[in-house]
Amino acid sequence: MEKILIVYYSISHLNTYNLLKNNLKGDNYIFFNVIKDNQEMINFDDFSKIILASGIYFNKMGENLYNFIKINQKELLTKEVIFIFTSGIRINYYKLKIKKTLLEFGIESKTFGTKALDTYGPLKLFGGINKKRPNKDDIKKLEDFLLEVGFL
Ligand SMILES: Cc1cc2nc3c(=O)[nH]c(=O)nc-3n(C[C@H](O)[C@H](O)[C@H](O)COP(=O)(O)O)c2cc1C
Repeated sequence: MEKILIVYYSISHLNTYNLLKNNLKGDNYIFFNVIKDNQEMINFDDFSKIILASGIYFNKMGENLYNFIKINQKELLTKEVIFIFTSGIRINYYKLKIKKTLLEFGIESKTFGTKALDTYGPLKLFGGINKKRPNKDDIKKLEDFLLEVGFL
C-alpha cells in the first residue's frame, strides 16, 4: 500500500493530532511531529502524497510547520499536498489564508478545517469554546474529504 507522510504541529490540546489519528490508521500513514522528530527520518522518495496539519495560533499555522514548508519547498512541489487544520473560529477564512500561504511557495493544496476546543486566554475562564470538538460529525467530514482527495 502506498505510504503517506503526515507532518503535523499540534501543541495545545492535541486536537489536530487526535483528529488525524482517528481517520488515518495503519502502517502506511507515517506521522512526523514537526516540533520534535528528526527530519533525517524522512525519505521524501518514499512518498508521493503528503498531509500538512496544524492548529491555528495567532491567525497562522504553527511556526515550525511553516519553516518545514519553507525548507522543503522543492520536495513538496513534486508531491500531492493537502492541508488539515483545527481552529477556534473562522474556518473559511483560515482555509483561504492557508491556501494562499502555500501558493506563495507554489504549492497547490486542497484544504480541510474544523472547529476544535479552544481555551486560549480568557476563553479558559468558562471552559473554552467548541467543547467536545472535533466530534463524530467532524471526524466523518474529514473522512469524506480524505476519500474525495484520494488520501484514504
Ligand atoms: C496560543 C494560541 C493561539 C490561538 N490562536 C487562535 C487564532 O488566532 N484563531 C483561532 O481560530 N484559534 C486560535 N487558537 C485555538 C486553536 O487553533 C485550537 O484550539 C486548535 O484546535 C489547537 O490545535 P492543537 O490542539 O492541535 O494544538 C489558539 C490557541 C492557542 C493555544
